[in-house]
Amino acid sequence: MTAIAPVRWDTDRLILLDQTVLPEREVERAYRGWQEVGAAIRTLVVRGAPAIGVAAAFGVVLAARESRAATFDGLMADLETAIKGLAATRPTAVNLFWALDRMRRVAVASSALPLDQVGARLLAEAQTIRDEDIAANRAMGAHGASLVPPNARILTHCNAGALATAGYGTALGVVRAAHEQGKVALVWVDETRPVMQGSRLTAWECVRDGIPHRLIADVVAASVMARGEVDLIVTGADRIAANGDTANKIGTYSLAVLAAHHKVPFYVAAPFSTIDPALASGAEIPIEERDPAEVRRVGAQQTAPSASPVFNPAFDVTPARLIAAIITERGVVRPPYRF
Ligand code: MRU
Repeated sequence: MTAIAPVRWDTDRLILLDQTVLPEREVERAYRGWQEVGAAIRTLVVRGAPAIGVAAAFGVVLAARESRAATFDGLMADLETAIKGLAATRPTAVNLFWALDRMRRVAVASSALPLDQVGARLLAEAQTIRDEDIAANRAMGAHGASLVPPNARILTHCNAGALATAGYGTALGVVRAAHEQGKVALVWVDETRPVMQGSRLTAWECVRDGIPHRLIADVVAASVMARGEVDLIVTGADRIAANGDTANKIGTYSLAVLAAHHKVPFYVAAPFSTIDPALASGAEIPIEERDPAEVRRVGAQQTAPSASPVFNPAFDVTPARLIAAIITERGVVRPPYRF
């Protein structure tokens, strides 16, 4: 079976697997402009911290191709406009800003080159970011699988799989690696209200790869832990502060509290591109608030009065003291965390 490729480059355009229509339909969409890529990030056509970073990097490549500037300074001004626009799409996942910084540095370092070669350098950098992400996920999988006991029942939240990265996944990459070693008895897949990344995307990946799983409503997690049917929890991350506090999909913090109560190890899997050493603690992580309509409906079905006020944070922060270990591409990091 071919690997899942949520973000790929094809000759002169960016191709995204549209995650808003999965699992019903597998549709790829082509992008030739950075503004359209920004809209795709904002509307969750592409989502998940590392995948957002990779898509934004290719967005900068498209901005260079769109530019009509005749000088390096003119090109740089166009690139800065695109970088600013792409950075304004989603605030929490630091991989977005990390990837844009890398692209800016490559552009600046290419100032002595002919303009068409600057574009080629940018494309090479975006492809390197993508390739490095896949390699990091494979390494995380290998390190994380060592924490998984035989016949493990693993609970995960949201989608931190191939779809959320350049490929293979972070938390679901650990699950994949453990599954390849024959150690996974069952994956509990939280449906992950309100956008349903668990049921729509993680369950889709599990079906596709033959990983044994069972879908649960988010409210069921406490019960399966109380029944002794969860051996470990592993989630991804959108931003990790210097002290190990971790922002991830809303509901992750509740799981970590439940895990502590039931003495279930709670692990985070994330590449170094998700660590933000500039922030001392999770209190400084900006948390995205999304459209109230996401909470007032399930799919197309309205489930609340349109007039009801809503609070819809897309992420929460899990304090470092609740995290048993952070699985990175360089190895398993244990507390106390100092990044
Ligand atoms: O709003 P989303 O779908 O972009 O949120 C995704 C998550 O919270 C993931 O767990 C996180 O980005 C890690 S992806 C490897």
